[in-house]
Order: sequence, then structure tokens, then C-alpha cells
Amino acid sequence: PISEIQYLPETYSTNDDAMAWAQAGAPEGVVVIADKQLKGRGRLGRMWVTQPGTSLAFSMIFRPTLEEIEKLSLFSPLGALAVAVALEDLGLSPEIKWPNDVLLSRKKVCGVLAETVWMGSHINGVVLGIGINVATGSVPDSNMLLFPATCVESELGKPVDRLSLLESVLRHLIEWRKQIRTERFIEEWKKRLAFLGEKVTVQKPDGEITGRFQDVDEHGALVLSVEEQYHTIFAGDVKLRPL
Ligand code: BTN
Repeated sequence: PISEIQYLPETYSTNDDAMAWAQAGAPEGVVVIADKQLKGRGRLGRMWVTQPGTSLAFSMIFRPTLEEIEKLSLFSPLGALAVAVALEDLGLSPEIKWPNDVLLSRKKVCGVLAETVWMGSHINGVVLGIGINVATGSVPDSNMLLFPATCVESELGKPVDRLSLLESVLRHLIEWRKQIRTERFIEEWKKRLAFLGEKVTVQKPDGEITGRFQDVDEHGALVLSVEEQYHTIFAGDVKLRPL
């Protein structure tokens, strides 16, 4: 359940705020949302721009059980799945770009940043930050992007109420969070994965690798086959291959 929603007109990064609150003991379900972020953060050290009035940018605190900590990497797919299902409720057909970007017409509409909360030497929380491009002003200039981007309104062809979309995403987050350890959770996430079965290039922290996107494992890791050999990739990004 949601324990508290904190709205900030402006902040540096809702993930930083939620991380600080989590360190201070805030319970699962606390949500921080901002209209504008001065220093929004993306995955792999990138930045994330949040223009006021056009986007959704929020972070939620989770307190995983010991069992859930064994598969902590499923929390970012949780964010992508919740957003994808909320977009489906609007009549759209989103796909998920492994591990957790949400695409519409193969263009990025949402990013998810999952961060681990440490208490001394053990993990006691996860902060899931979600950024959704809702209206046209939210989409950065294409020369700033690694992957083409779009927004919900352009794809839907009509205005979208940000508050209802937020409410819907939160509802799906809470619903799927309960099922994060189930087979069904992975199945539903996997069913929406873009490029599955296709030849892809994956950008890893230590370089690029190209092969067939064979499968995902029970941790959500990407299984790539390269010349009859399987490689399991835990962190990285699927890139668009030049035609
Ligand atoms: C990515 O695609 O690289 C992830 C982007 C995550 C952006 C969201 S917006 C709310 C939260 N606060 C941040 O600073 N980042 C996340």
C-alpha cells in the first residue's frame, strides 16, 4: 500500500530524496514525486531531464523480504511492467526494452532507475525511480539521446491526465509487487520484451557484445547466444543496431 505521497514542485532528483528517506527509515510505499528535477538521474550514470508540466517523475520505496532480496534485480522490471500495463489500459501497445525501458512504436517513453538501500553491510530497501514522458515538451532533443524517444500523448493522439496516469501506475506497481517472486511476474514481463529472439547489440559496462537475444533468466538477466555460446548479462542496455 501507499503510505505517503510527498509532492515537491522542484527537487534535484526524487531518487536522491527517496534514498535519503529510506536511509532514515521510511517504510515501504512512500512515494516522492516532483514536477521538475534539476538533476534527474538515469541508468549507467546518465542524466534524465524532467521539464515541468509535461512528465511524471517519481520514486517509491520498497522494503523487500529476505527472499525477495535474493532476486533484487527483479525490482526494475517491476517498474517497467507496471508502466507498460498502465499504458495498455489507455489502449496503447507498449514494449519493454530490456531490462526496463518502456517503448511505444519502438521509441522510449519511460525509464526506470532502481537503487539499493544499504544499512551497514546488508540490503534493507530498494528505491524505484520512474520517469515517463507524457506531453510533447517532455521529449529531449534527439541529438541528446542514445535511443529515439516519444511521449504518451503523441502516441495516443490526445491529452493524458498526468494524475490519473500516476494513479494507475502506482496501482499496478502495488499489485505486481505482491507477485514479484512468481513465475507469472517474469512471464508477463518477458511477454512484452522487445527484440526477443532477434539479433541485438548489448552495451555493457565493459563494452559491447552482439548476438541473438535468446531468453531471460529467473533474475531477469539477458541470455545472449553468440556463436553457439551463451552469455548471461546482468547489467547493460539493448542498443538499436544500425541497419
Ligand atoms: C533511465 O532510463 O536511464 C532511467 C531514468 C529514470 C528517471 C527517473 S525520474 C524519477 C527518478 N528520479 C531520478 O533522478 N531518476 C528517476
